[in-house]
Parts: sequence; structure tokens; C-alpha cells
Amino acid sequence: MSKKIAVLVGSLRKDSYNLKVAKVFQKIAPPSLSLQIIQIGDLPLYNEDIDIDTPPASYTRFRQEIAECQGAIFVTPEYNRGLPAVIKNAIDVGSRPYGKSVWSKKAAAIISVSPGAIGGFGANHQLRQSLVFLDMPTLQQPEAYFGGVSTAFDEQGNITEKSKEFLSLFINSYAAWVEKLS
Ligand code: FNR
Repeated sequence: MSKKIAVLVGSLRKDSYNLKVAKVFQKIAPPSLSLQIIQIGDLPLYNEDIDIDTPPASYTRFRQEIAECQGAIFVTPEYNRGLPAVIKNAIDVGSRPYGKSVWSKKAAAIISVSPGAIGGFGANHQLRQSLVFLDMPTLQQPEAYFGGVSTAFDEQGNITEKSKEFLSLFINSYAAWVEKLS
């Protein structure tokens, strides 16, 4: 049976390259993985005051969806050499209430995606830092800094063969990582 894996996309933009990459993963992932893109744009900025008695419905929905998954893939842009707030907020929401983090022990992988040459290295490693604290065993290799993404799709929106090869290597390595941990 395939393992349910959450995919978190760190851009809310309709034509987001990160979202396009996440959708490519859904197409090319091996049958051992079932990738679910989880909505994070509706999560109010994390505030313990609103989380005490009756958490927002979106917090509850998000925590439940992550809890049902066996792993998580983070597909993120870089904003000002760091992590976009939307993805950090989702991480924070999932980490609370204290002692009830939904992230713990879940097999993770990170890919940063950017039109720029550095490929979102800063965001990638900033995110990695939080995953260490959250006790998420995270795929080390291949490191995935997907630069120059604006040339990775043709006019019909199809991914080029070279980029597809790179994404296949990443998702197959992640599938092996999930297998190893289970
Ligand atoms: C950016 N962008 C960007 N790119 C990068 O490689 N390093 C960076 O530090 C930044 N900083 C940054 C800040 C802000 C506020 C925005 C809106 C954008 C450019 C970014 O990579 C580009 O807009 C991508 O297309 C964003 O990803 P999506 O939305 O296409 O998935």
C-alpha cells in the first residue's frame, strides 16, 4: 500500500513555480508514495492566545491532515535569503500544542525552487534547522536547490527532460528514505 505524504508548498501564488514542481512530483512519484498537497494559505499567523480553548478550524484541519501522513516534502521558494512566512507559520502551527507536535519522526525532504542561480539555498538550510528541532529525519542527498526554474517548463507547461531527471532522482531517493525509516 502506498504511503501518504504531505507536500507543503511555500508559495501562495496562482502561477507559482513551486506549485508546478509539487505537481510534477505528484505525476512522477513511484507508486509507493501518494502525495497530497496540503493547504497552508488559510492558517492564521500562529498565536497561542487563539489556540488555547477553541483553535481555528484551519489549525485543526491542518494538524489532522499532517497527522494522517507518514512523511512531508517541503517545496519552497526563498524570500530575502530566508524562509517564506507562510511555510514557517505552517510549521509552527503543526508543532503546537506543546508536546503534541504532528511533525515528530516523520520522514522529511526539502527542495528549494527559484528562478535565481543560487536555487534558494538560504531558505533550504533555514528550514533544515527547524526540522532538526522538530525531530524529523530529513533526506540528506541529493541536496535539492532547483535554480533557473523559469526555463524548466516549456510553453505548454511541460517540464524539460533534464529537470524531470533531477526531480525523479530526488523523489526516488525520498521514496527509498521513507522505506528505510518504516
Ligand atoms: C523573492 N525572490 C527571491 N528569490 C531568490 O532566489 N532569493 C531571494 O532571497 C528572493 N527573495 C524574494 C523575496 C520576496 C518577498 C519575493 C516575492 C520574491 C524571487 C522568488 O524566487 C520568485 O518570485 C519565485 O518565483 C517565487 O516562487 P513561486 O511563487 O514562483 O513559487
